[in-house]
Amino acid sequence: MRSKTLLAPAAFLLLASLAVRLGAQGAPQQTPPAAPPGAGGQGAPQGAGAPPQGRGRGLATFPAQQRPPGDPEVIRRGTGLYGVYCRSCHGADLRGGDQGGPNLLRSQVVLNDQNGETILPVVQQGRQNPGMAVMPPLNIPEDDVKAIATYIHSVTASARGQGAPPAGPPIELNIVVGDPKAGQAYFDSKCTACHTAAAVQGIGTRVPDPMTLQNYWVGGGAAGGRGGRGGGGAAQSVVTATVTEANGQKTEGRLVRLDDFYVVVALADGASRSFRRDGDVPKVEVKDPREAHRKLLPTYADKDIHDVTAYLVTLK
Ligand code: HEC
Ligand code: HEC
Repeated sequence: MRSKTLLAPAAFLLLASLAVRLGAQGAPQQTPPAAPPGAGGQGAPQGAGAPPQGRGRGLATFPAQQRPPGDPEVIRRGTGLYGVYCRSCHGADLRGGDQGGPNLLRSQVVLNDQNGETILPVVQQGRQNPGMAVMPPLNIPEDDVKAIATYIHSVTASARGQGAPPAGPPIELNIVVGDPKAGQAYFDSKCTACHTAAAVQGIGTRVPDPMTLQNYWVGGGAAGGRGGRGGGGAAQSVVTATVTEANGQKTEGRLVRLDDFYVVVALADGASRSFRRDGDVPKVEVKDPREAHRKLLPTYADKDIHDVTAYLVTLK
């Protein structure tokens, strides 16, 4: 029971790490031997524009996700060349520039390109799709275009669409890097001002994912008080408000909404009451149990956070 109720509100904290994990499952487990940078000629047989089916079928969707990191020397050369030939139109960050070049980070041509082979014809022949600005043919040697391509890929590899997994093999973030002994000492000296040791008993079991656990304790528990989300788990960290009307009548309950115009509180019997606000009338006092933790935040050093997490993880 207890573990359920605590985990429910914690679930939203999980979202971030979950998104990464889910994404990571779709990413290749190992880096397949894509054409090495600089491997001569038309190494890639896939036709321009067609997503390659050959390797990693059903895993990565774009070569950009299967690519080993480019040669830093080539990337450096490509960066310079891009600045000279492409930047004015496609922008310093490849997201499009003043002269009407489109965002290259989202370009199918770029995403499907392995080693310059689909980018090269665009550069050398130019482009003029109806309704688009014109990209003039640019007389740039193939080798230079490849260097530019390598640079562009180095950027797309690190800057993905929202929610997409990072390039390359999934990154296991090990956040349990602290010293549990030091963490326990920290807990005993600082946290026990408000908590008994019993308060965190079994927390490593209740919140098994270390990243979630860290966010959870740093935040002083999960936010559970909003609109009943998180179900019964809202027993903790419920934000309450006391509304005092002009005639002195007080109403107290769980804070549902507070903005410049209304304050809404849910009463113990499940009903809710809303009050129109006009400046300081009615008076609203908010109590957020997590406020204490928010005030603590600036007092932690990074090391303290790591140590305390390392300690709490052991409390199974
Ligand atoms: C004078 C402005 C200009 C310059 C310089 C320029 N481009 Fe373009 N580029 C464009 C425009 C405009 C388009 C869109 C043309 C269209 O689709 O009709 C485009 C399209 C592209 C596309 C295709 C995007 C897609 O998905 O359809 C690629 C790839 C590309 N440019 C790469 C480059 C590279 C690499 C350079 C430098 C070597 C470069 N461009 C220089 C203006 C420019
Ligand atoms: C100033 C008092 C105070 C201090 C100091 C303090 N906490 Fe808290 N803590 C609270 C309050 C208040 C709550 C919120 C309880 C609620 O939501 O009702 C809380 C909640 C928590 C929770 C979530 C609730 C639970 O039991 O699972 C954890 C975990 C936690 N604190 C850990 C710590 C740790 C670790 C430290 C030391 C680094 C610490 N606290 C220091 C006051 C404090």
